[in-house]
Order: sequence, then structure tokens, then C-alpha cells
Amino acid sequence: MIERSCLAIILAAGEGTRMKSSISKVLHPVGGLPMVAHAVRAATAAGVGSVALVVGRGAEEVEAAVRPFASHVSLHLQADRLGTAHAVLAAREEIAKGYDDLIVMFGDTPLIDAGALAKARAKLAGGADIVVMGFRPADPAGYGRLVEHDNKLFAIIEDKEADADQKKIGYCNGGLMAISGKHALSLLESVGNKNSKGEYYLTDIVAIGHHRGLHVVSLEVDAASVLGVNTRVELAEAELLFQNRIRKEMMLAGVTMTAPDTVFFSWDTSIGAETRIEPNVFFGPGVTIEGGVAIHPFCHIEGARVASGSEIGPFARLRPGADMRANSKAGNFVEIKNAVIGEGAKVNHLTYIGDADVGAKANIGAGTITCNYDGFNKHLTQIGAGAFIGSNTALVAPVSVGANAIIAAGSVITKNVPDNAVAFGRARQEIHEGRAIVLHAQNKAIKEAKKAK
Ligand code: UD1
Ligand code: MG
Repeated sequence: MIERSCLAIILAAGEGTRMKSSISKVLHPVGGLPMVAHAVRAATAAGVGSVALVVGRGAEEVEAAVRPFASHVSLHLQADRLGTAHAVLAAREEIAKGYDDLIVMFGDTPLIDAGALAKARAKLAGGADIVVMGFRPADPAGYGRLVEHDNKLFAIIEDKEADADQKKIGYCNGGLMAISGKHALSLLESVGNKNSKGEYYLTDIVAIGHHRGLHVVSLEVDAASVLGVNTRVELAEAELLFQNRIRKEMMLAGVTMTAPDTVFFSWDTSIGAETRIEPNVFFGPGVTIEGGVAIHPFCHIEGARVASGSEIGPFARLRPGADMRANSKAGNFVEIKNAVIGEGAKVNHLTYIGDADVGAKANIGAGTITCNYDGFNKHLTQIGAGAFIGSNTALVAPVSVGANAIIAAGSVITKNVPDNAVAFGRARQEIHEGRAIVLHAQNKAIKEAKKAK
């Protein structure tokens, strides 16, 4: 890590009107995490200590989204959108504290990776004064063009200002910049707004810096890492790139996926080596799966832990607080919420286990339901180790079933069951010998009488 103080200024004052959304554009999630939080995570991973957020609307929500990912966050309101240099200067107070490095990032660029930011900072540490992240888009129209010669960057010409020759340049401004702290304020304050948009362009600091004899360079990054999201179409593109990135990382780390394109991860999904994920599986935020787990098709998993040797699905739903211990099983059409499923315990079919503690090696029969909710409060069900719950049992919580107890199929259990006991919670079966013959004869007679009418 570079031993230099660094401030990341994240521009997030965009109106985002093209998203047609009631929330700030930068709060739309990619991989289950708001875009702006991705930017902050990358900054923090590149050793950035402080984050200055430049926001328009939704300031509090934006701040709340990034707070967990940075040790120091300051908020700066840009009331009028007068351009990217104007936006950066909204954070003037923070910049003036005197950081060694400054990184300007956009809140709608979620795929930026920490490695690229760290490289830009390394260039500053090596003597550069301004480092611009450049990329080569398939279609450069709309982007600022980098005018470079002998590894020196002379200027960035915005698309609107570019002449025919300059428009032919394929190397473009990705928007992100690293600036040496000691020059930043003076450079930014020298930017004027005499251009076709009447805006203060951050990109003008390149030519200004060059004229001052500063060391201005570019750093080429891949197009995906500077992809800016303006519409929900681009949001879906960013999501796809993000998913492909994680899928690849997972597979290279030892996770098997038979159809990776159909498996969806969140930014924080953690999966151990030798786990096998079959098609059509979704991971929401907060999931940790250890190694050697089998996840069969069509599972929906969020906020859950699954220990090694376990088997999930097909068609299982693990909701927040599901904690599957080693070698446990949640089979088809099983939903588990806020519940420990003990080591080696099996919940194989058509079952809801919510707010429960299931002991090791317990067997939960098909159609078992923990009745955890009375319309107002949630209650706990405890099932001891080795207990056998017969099919179609309703466990009316709060209730406990002792270790090695047996519950008869079809029971409604409302009272605690001690260890080693057998509990019946259903009407006893009666047998009436020969009675069926009488009933059949009666019914037949009724039918024939009706026909005769
Ligand atoms: C900018 C760059 C362009 C680059 C492109 C990459 C400038 C002048 N141009 O153009 O060279 O190729 O990004 O995508 O920097 N913002 C504010 N307040 C403002 C203006 C902008 O917060 O007053 C924020 C926006 O919300 C956005 C970012 O700054 O996140 C960039 O602004 P945008 O208007 O999208 O700039 P581009 O025209 O795309
Ligand atoms: Mg833009």
C-alpha cells in the first residue's frame, strides 16, 4: 500500500433523468450493491482513506450507502450542475486539508477496479502530477479525446469541441483522474467555462497543467472498468459485465458451474473450492458457502451460510439467517429462514423451517411446517438432535421437541415434547370391519334411483 494520504472525490450530483427513477441514479444496484458503493469500495481497496461525496439530491441515502465502505466520508452539495470541475470544487473545503493524492471518480461507474486506481496512485508517487484513465471504446463519439505524444498528455478535447481530425482519435477519457494534491486547487480554480456547453470542464486541467510544465500522463484501462451508467439498459450491461467477472473469478478459484451464465452472484458472495453449482441459481447479498457443497438447480439463496458437505435444492430457498451446518441437507421446495440446521440434519421435501434450531442428525419429514408467526410476533421452534419429525407435521411455536423424540406423521404439536418421547398430535384412526361394503351398496342405490327418475 502506498504511504500517501489520498482523498477520493466521487461525483454523484447527476440528475440521472434517463434512468426514469425516483431514486438517485448512483443508488441503483449492480450485484446487489449501489453503484456508488462499488466506487467507494474500489477507492478504499486502493488505499484511499477519505471520501468526499459530491451530491445533488438524495444526499442522505447516498451517504448511507457508502458509509460502511470508507473510514471517513464528507458530503458536499453541488446545487447547480455547472460542470465536472465545478463539481470537484464543491469539495474545496476537504481538498484544502492538503492530501498527497486526489482521485476524481464518478458515482455511476461501478466496474472500476482497485488495481487501476492503485496504478494511477503509483504514477503520482512516481512523479506524475495528473494521471488520466484512458480507454479505447468501440465508438468514441461523445467521449473526450486524449491528445498524446511521446507518453505525454497535452490536452483532452471534449467531443463537442473536437475538430474533424481530433474526432478520429480512438483513445478517450474514461473520466477518472488522479491529481497530485499540491497542484489540485490551483489547477481547478484556473478552469474557465468558455466552451460550447458553458460548463467548467475538469478535463481542462490537463492542458493547463501541461502549460505549467507539470507531468501529465494517461493510464490505459479496459473499457468495462470505466463504463458509465445512464440508462437502465446500461445498468443491465454493467450487471452482465459484473456477473461475468465474478463467475470467472469463482471458477478460477475452484468453484464448478455447469452453466455459469445462469448463475447470479452478489458483490459479497463467498464460495469455497470444490463447491458445485448447477444451473439457475441466484445468490442475494450476504451468502457464504463453504467448499464441497452441492447446489442443485433453481435455488434462491440470500443472507445464508452453508457449511461443507451440504446439499441444497433443487428448488430450495434459503432466506436470511439460514445456517446450514456441515453435511446437512435442504431438498426440493424447502424454505429455511433464521434457522440453524444442525450437522447432518435433513430437511428433504416441501417444508418451511423458520425461526428454529434443528439439532444434529434430526430428520424433518415432508410437509413439515414451523408455525412461527401468530399474526403479531415470531416464535421459536427447537428440535433436538436425532429427532424424527413425521411428514405433514405442524409445529406451533413456541415449542420444543426433545432429542431423539419421534413425532407421528400428520401431528399438530402445540406442547413441548421431552427427549426420547413419541408424540401424536392427531385424531386416532378407527377401523369398522366390512362397513365399506354397506356404504358402497347405499351409494349405488342412490345413483340408480336418480337415473330412474
Ligand atoms: C465526461 C468527461 C469526458 C469523458 C466522459 C467519460 C468532462 C468535462 N468530460 O463527460 O471527457 O470522456 O466523462 O464518461 O469531464 N457531474 C456532476 N456535476 C456536474 C457535472 C457532472 O456531479 O456539474 C457528474 C455526473 O453526475 C457524472 C460525471 O460528473 O457522474 C460526469 O459528467 P457527465 O455530464 O456525464 O460528463 P460527460 O459528458 O459524460
Ligand atoms: Mg457521462
